[in-house]
Amino acid sequence: MEIRATTKPAGESSADTIAVGVFDGESIDHDVEGGALAALLDSGEARPSFKHLAVTHAQNRRWVLVGLGERDKFDAERARVVAGLVQARAKELSTRSLCWQLPRDVDDSIAAGLVEGTVLAAYAFDRYKAAPSEDDEEEGDRRGRLDELTVAADRDLTPVVDAARVESDAQNAARDLQNTPANDMTPTRLGERAQELAAEIDGLEAQVEGRDGILERGMGAFAAVAQGTHQEPALITLRYDGPGARGPRLGFVGKAVTFDTGGLSLKPSAKMSEMKFDMSGGAAVIEAVGAIARLRLPVSVIAVIGSTENMPSGHSTKPGDIVRASSGTTIEVNNTDAEGRLILADCLAYAIAEGAERLVDLATLTGAIIVALGSTHAGLMSNDDGWAHTVEEAAQRAGELVWRLPLHPEYAELIKGQYADINNAPEGRKAASITAAEFLHRFVDDTPWAHVDIAGTAWDLGRPYASKGGSGFGVRLLVELARAQAEG
Ligand code: BES
Ligand code: MN
Ligand code: ZN
Repeated sequence: MEIRATTKPAGESSADTIAVGVFDGESIDHDVEGGALAALLDSGEARPSFKHLAVTHAQNRRWVLVGLGERDKFDAERARVVAGLVQARAKELSTRSLCWQLPRDVDDSIAAGLVEGTVLAAYAFDRYKAAPSEDDEEEGDRRGRLDELTVAADRDLTPVVDAARVESDAQNAARDLQNTPANDMTPTRLGERAQELAAEIDGLEAQVEGRDGILERGMGAFAAVAQGTHQEPALITLRYDGPGARGPRLGFVGKAVTFDTGGLSLKPSAKMSEMKFDMSGGAAVIEAVGAIARLRLPVSVIAVIGSTENMPSGHSTKPGDIVRASSGTTIEVNNTDAEGRLILADCLAYAIAEGAERLVDLATLTGAIIVALGSTHAGLMSNDDGWAHTVEEAAQRAGELVWRLPLHPEYAELIKGQYADINNAPEGRKAASITAAEFLHRFVDDTPWAHVDIAGTAWDLGRPYASKGGSGFGVRLLVELARAQAEG
C-alpha cells in the first residue's frame, strides 16, 4: 500500500473513494459541489453518531460519510476505529485508492490514527491458504487490496503519516510472527527475524545465543523450561543507540514461548492451539525496537527476548524440581506451566546487567489477567510509581490501554518456597497475576520496572482494526514510550 499526505482537498484527489467524517452537531466541512453529503445527512441515511457509515456516489467516485460522534470525545483511538470501519467498507466496494479528508481543527495524532487504523485493518494472514484460482484471481485481487491511501489536510502531514506507517507496519510484522504456527515460528526463526531487522536498519544490532549460551550464563531458570524440547532455544538481544540518545537506557524484555503445552503440568487440549501466541510479548518487543530504530528516535534501548518451547518429554523439568536462576535465587518449580516467569527472571536480570535503567516487560503471563481485565486493558504491575505513570500515559496515547494492579509484601509472601527461596506457582488461585509479578519483582530489585501482562490483549482483540488473530499489542506502546523518553 502506498501512503501519502496531500494539502489538496480530498475532492481533488484521483482516489476512487473519499472518506469524510462528520462530528455531532456540526455541518460537513468538505462537501461535494451541490451538497450531496449534506443531503445524505439530511435524509437520515448518514448520521454523525460515532461509527455510522453511509455511501453515496458523486463526481464519478464513491464517498463514504462516517459519523465521528462528539468532537470532545474524538481521539486517536476513535480515529483508528473509524478508519478500520471505513477500510472494511472500502474493501467491499473494491476500492483501490482511498483518500481520507482530515476533519478541520484536529491535531496530528488523529491523522496518525487514520493511517494506523487503515493499515492495521487491511492486514490479512493468508500465506498458508491456496492462492486464488486463475479465474477468480483478478476479482479476488481487486476486492482484497487497497493500493493507495492518501490523507488530505490543510497542512503538510508527510512526517506524521510516514511515522504512523512505520509503526503500523511494525505492528503488522509482529502479527505475522504471532500468527505463524509454532512448527514454523521456532525460537531460531524468531532470532533470525531479529537479525534480519539488524541487517536492514542502521544502528540496530542483534545477538542470538542458543542452549549453550543460556547455560554458560547460569540462566538455570530459563534453561529449565528449555530442557524439555528438541528445538534450540534462543536468547535474543537487540541493541539500539539512537543519534544523540537522551534519558536513561530503556530495557524491553519479552516472553517468547513459541508453544506452551504446559510441560509435564500439561494443559487441557481445548484451545491449546492458541498457545502458539505465547511468544506475543517477544514479537512485540522485536518489532517495536525495529520501528524505534527506523524512526531514528534519540534513545538508547536494550531488548532481551527469551524464546523456547515448553514441552513435556523425558528431559523435561518435573514438578518439585529446584533450579537456580542467574541471580543465585533458587526456585521450586511446582508447576511447569508457570514457565514464563522462569524465563523472564533470567532475562530481566540479564537486561539490568547489560545496562537497562528503566524496564518494561511484555508477557502473556497469566490466564487470570483475562478474567480480570478481558481484552480492553492489559495488566500493569510496577515497583515505581513514576515509571508506572509514564507507562500508563504512553499506553493511553497509543490506544493500548493498561490497568495497574498492586504489588504488596503480603502477595510476595505467597511465593515463598518450602524447600527453596521461592516457588513458581503458589497453591490456590489467589491474585494469580499479581503473584506472577511478585515473582518477577524478585529479579529486578529497585530498578524501575513495569510488567505488562498481555495475555488478554495479544490476540482476538475484537477492535475494528484488529479483530481476530494476533494483535501486535505492545508495539505502539513501546514506540510511544521511546518517543516520550526522546522528548524528555
Ligand atoms: N501462557 C500461559 C498464560 C496464558 C493462559 C496466556 C491462557 C493466555 C491464555 C502461562 O504460561 C501459564 O500457563 N500460566 C499459568 C500459571 C499458573 C500455572 C500459575 C496460568 O495462568 O494458568
Ligand atoms: Mn504456561
Ligand atoms: Zn506461557
